[in-house]
Amino acid sequence: MNDAERVLITGGAGFIGSHLAVRMAAAGRRVGVIDDLSAGSKEHLKTLTAAGVRTQDLFNADVSGPEAAAILARWRPGLVVHLAAQSRVAASVADPVGGTRTNVMGTVNLLAAAAETGVARLVAASSGGAAYGNLPADADFQYEHMARRPLSPYGASKAAADLYLRMYGESYGVVCTSLLLGNVYGPRLDRRFSGDVVSRTIGNLRSGRRPLIYGDGAQTRDFVHVSDVVEAFRAACERGVPGSFNIGTGVETTVHRVVEMICAAMGEPPKVEYAPDLPAEVRRVRLDSAAAAAHLDWRPTIDLATGISDMCVAA
Ligand SMILES: NC(=O)c1ccc[n+]([C@@H]2O[C@H](COP(=O)([O-])OP(=O)(O)OC[C@H]3O[C@@H](n4cnc5c(N)ncnc54)[C@H](O)[C@@H]3O)[C@@H](O)[C@H]2O)c1
Repeated sequence: MNDAERVLITGGAGFIGSHLAVRMAAAGRRVGVIDDLSAGSKEHLKTLTAAGVRTQDLFNADVSGPEAAAILARWRPGLVVHLAAQSRVAASVADPVGGTRTNVMGTVNLLAAAAETGVARLVAASSGGAAYGNLPADADFQYEHMARRPLSPYGASKAAADLYLRMYGESYGVVCTSLLLGNVYGPRLDRRFSGDVVSRTIGNLRSGRRPLIYGDGAQTRDFVHVSDVVEAFRAACERGVPGSFNIGTGVETTVHRVVEMICAAMGEPPKVEYAPDLPAEVRRVRLDSAAAAAHLDWRPTIDLATGISDMCVAA
């Protein structure tokens, strides 16, 4: 019999996963983590143990390998939150096969193990930007029912993983929820590579360098704060509603505007450097999250100006 109070979080040493693990531990759940530390950090794991996660529940393993399935069988969680991924578009362009192994095979591996070992629910992170592809010219928002037209291996891997989630819900009885996230930002966003505009800009300004924008800066994103995203995962875990739900603010912000906001919050002039566009990035993202409001009772609570200003004060 699986323990309903046990939640196994894959990617728990990463940005979103570490926030979620702390939140779940604070809510009294027993939290386990599977992470191969390929992008996650040991510092994040220390934060987890300080929040009450037991060191024997931290598993260094690859989600696409047999060990991950064995951990599910041994640890018997009632719930799995699947965040482990090759999480950047540029990395997927550089290594599409490795990304597919982690993002697609890793998801199928967990789903098969979940079905086999009696996991009741699985909640996974998908992409509200890359998996959709560009916002069509005649549309105001990306909606869950829209066709997926990914431009990158990353987007395609997330769209493919979503199909497997739906199939395991239909045919194997695992209640699967997929959250299609906007651009998540907030404290502990410390990616070692340059994909994310918020962490990159704060990092550059902190170290006396100029902000860097890839492309013309007119590309838009739907920026959503990590604490709101954690609440969305918590709600999805509690409610067990199958399906795909956009998690964004519905506010479209240009990359240029975000850089300006960060410069203003840090008292720096917006003297931006430009570099060529990163490959396979979408041009516009704006998510309609009405379904999440209706079915998960989830709404964003932190606007971008407040979220950025809090990060810059902390910096
Ligand atoms: N951050 C965003 O803006 C955003 C937007 C949309 C979707 N997502 C999705 O949310 C999830 C979490 O994103 P994040 O920003 O926290 O990313 P992250 O890179 O900080 O975290 C991912 C974690 O997965 C781990 N991992 C990678 N490959 C693994 C493997 N094969 N086996 C085990 N662990 C592995 C990494 O070590 C890392 O700790 C990902 O699925 C990502 O695709 C993130």
